[in-house]
Amino acid sequence: MTTAIYPGSFDPLTFGHVDVIERSARLFDHVIVSILTNPQKSALFSVDERIEIMQDILKPRFPNVEVAVFHGLLVEYARQRNAQVIVRGIRAVTDYEYEFQMALMNRRLAPGIETVFMMPAENYSYLSSRLVKEIAELGGSVAGLVPEIVEKRLKQRFRKGK
Ligand code: PNS
Repeated sequence: MTTAIYPGSFDPLTFGHVDVIERSARLFDHVIVSILTNPQKSALFSVDERIEIMQDILKPRFPNVEVAVFHGLLVEYARQRNAQVIVRGIRAVTDYEYEFQMALMNRRLAPGIETVFMMPAENYSYLSSRLVKEIAELGGSVAGLVPEIVEKRLKQRFRKGK
């Protein structure tokens, strides 16, 4: 049985993430989509909100996908969860340097854990949570880039902020 961890901030979940999750759910027996809790990094959505959003979208579609939270070293968490694989989405060459560095450092720390890169569909290759937040904050449309529930929550969030 192969368990894979797909770690990230998911602030918020985009269709690019969902695409990678769908591909991972087809390849691996169990996929743990894990939200990093990082007190140093300010997030738009709280961890609880992100869990709620992600469960709402992923649970009905992917029975072998679990939503979880982690803190500390990723490889330690992977060991605790008996995961053999770390999944990362790679969009463009610009992602490569950072991802390459992380994958090799993780390999040094835990040689038994393999990082697998997945390319989301090309129409999501320019999509990022950061841009989605910026567009939503400035009143632009993020339809087709994020699930509807995320779109709604973004609208609520920035309406409140005004
Ligand atoms: O998609 P993101 O938000 O860039 O995800 C980054 C993440 C969570 C994969 C990375 O920051 C991470 O693994 N953090 C946990 C701490 C850790 O293990 N650091 C050493 C990495 S070599």
